[in-house]
Amino acid sequence: MSHVYFDPDELRQGKAYTLSSEIRGEDGRIYDLEEWIARGGNAAVFRCRDRGSDEPRAIKFLLNFSRSSKKRFTREIDLLKAVGGNHFPKYYGSGVVKAKRTGPSGVSGKLRFLIMELADCNLDDLVRSERPISYERYAGQFRGLATALAELHKSAVHRDIKPENIFVAGERWLLGDYGLCSLVAPGEEDVAPLGINMGPKFWLSPEAQNRRLGIDEAISEDSDVFQLASVFWYVVNGRHPTGILKETDWAGPRKLFPVMEQALLHCRDKRPKTGDEFLKGLEEALAAQ
Ligand SMILES: Nc1ncnc2c1ncn2[C@@H]1O[C@H](COP(=O)(O)OP(=O)(O)OP(=O)(O)O)[C@@H](O)[C@H]1O
Ligand SMILES: [Mg+2]
Repeated sequence: MSHVYFDPDELRQGKAYTLSSEIRGEDGRIYDLEEWIARGGNAAVFRCRDRGSDEPRAIKFLLNFSRSSKKRFTREIDLLKAVGGNHFPKYYGSGVVKAKRTGPSGVSGKLRFLIMELADCNLDDLVRSERPISYERYAGQFRGLATALAELHKSAVHRDIKPENIFVAGERWLLGDYGLCSLVAPGEEDVAPLGINMGPKFWLSPEAQNRRLGIDEAISEDSDVFQLASVFWYVVNGRHPTGILKETDWAGPRKLFPVMEQALLHCRDKRPKTGDEFLKGLEEALAAQ
């Protein structure tokens, strides 16, 4: 059965792909392709359905065909398989599917894909449509996301934390999109070399901003802490945490302000160094009266 795969963004550029709507994962499971969900910088995400269980899933197709993108996608799949916990999207499968690009060139090729838990939307969609989000709703999710970051930091630095990369699945908020992750293990090749335009435009840590200016500072776990705290600030206040932060800018409970302020310090020596340190501070603050 044939299916014209179209992604509104790609279509605008006159591109579309034809591929079978029946997609077979590496493990032999069959998925039926359904409607388009969203397009990121490197990939397009669709709904699909596992024919065996009749459960809906998300399928992410890599649309960047550079060698480094393929390596990053493999890394993303490996990380998703390795991490475990309630605040990561569940991994279901991956593989490669034949596709033909429509139009005069009609090039045939292969699209790599990843099957994961289907979320309802991303956190940016949620903040825009449902703000204000109550403390009762975000407090447990902040703890869950900080727990996920602590878990991820055992093997990788995310480097691309932003509201669009946090997925909302029912009441659970999930740390997603490991496409820019660098591995913590010594000697690992960095398949996403730190360049001047790397990382999410509006959610860069101070050190990532400095790199854009050509100042050589490393991106590490504390940069992820800064980015995650920026996202938390955005959830609570509906605004980006730019400039000098004062308690009068904070719409959440007072007990949480110091932990956010510390995680958003420019001076990285005084910031929590890892997701785990951030989580501990956050848990203490949440437990206070
Ligand atoms: N499992 C999922 N369920 C529902 N929607 C999803 C899922 N995964 C991704 N999305 C949606 O698709 C968008 C793009 O996905 P993702 O961030 O993984 O792609 P990307 O191309 O790597 O993004 P980036 O631009 O950050 O590099 C997300 O912002 C989200 O809105
Ligand atoms: Mg993304």
